[in-house]
Amino acid sequence: MIRALLNIIGLKAGDTVFEPFSGSGTTALEAQLLGINFIGIDISPLCVMQGKVKTKSIYVIDEIIKLKNSLISKLKPSLFNQEKDFYKTLAGIENEPVRDFYALARLLVDYVENDAHSLEDMGYLLNEIRENFVGVRGKGKERVELYNSDMKKSYSEMYRILKPNKYAVIVIGNATYQGEEVKTVEFTIEYMTKLGFKLEKDILKIIFGLYNVMKKENILIFRKAK
Ligand SMILES: C[S@@+](CC[C@H](N)C(=O)[O-])C[C@H]1O[C@@H](n2cnc3c(N)ncnc32)[C@H](O)[C@@H]1O
Repeated sequence: MIRALLNIIGLKAGDTVFEPFSGSGTTALEAQLLGINFIGIDISPLCVMQGKVKTKSIYVIDEIIKLKNSLISKLKPSLFNQEKDFYKTLAGIENEPVRDFYALARLLVDYVENDAHSLEDMGYLLNEIRENFVGVRGKGKERVELYNSDMKKSYSEMYRILKPNKYAVIVIGNATYQGEEVKTVEFTIEYMTKLGFKLEKDILKIIFGLYNVMKKENILIFRKAK
């Protein structure tokens, strides 16, 4: 989907795309494959690391393969082992992308849980991250208000940094929170329009398979007026 979107908005090799919520680095990887420059940010250090590993490992693949057997032999043969000193072994690897690759591989293999465990394992304080994490701040009605005000800031920044006539693509869905539908899509269209964006396309995307709070999302393609 991301590749299709990059094509639809006409980005070519040498152009630059900015992804303010880069997640596990899907856009980073697709941009790399197409020769498009990528700038991305994410509040989660785990996501930042995933994005880096996805895009940089290809350049150090020989060293990754070379180290594989010796690293595996230092791990106890258990899927759930929690050997803390694995990081000590990793610290000895000078090449950062190689080190990150194995640090991430360990997190994904050892913890079949979720990001919380991984982040704690990496030494981050979950509460500190939570304070800046869009969508999880506050409780009840306040959560929706904080989400909206955080996203407004993000949308304004998108407008500020984008060149005139260029595109901002937002994939977003109306979530159900505490039994009520939150009209995030309408809110986004309204606010982006107020900022000076023009909605060029609104594509409905059904979420097949497992879903928790959303059954469909909208792909909103905006263009910054000249
Ligand atoms: C739905 S995911 C993004 C998926 C990504 N855009 C993609 O297409 O694969 C939302 C991301 O926003 C990040 N996030 C939440 N609050 C943030 C903030 N204040 N600044 C930057 N990123 C944030 C989360 O860590 C999460 O990775």
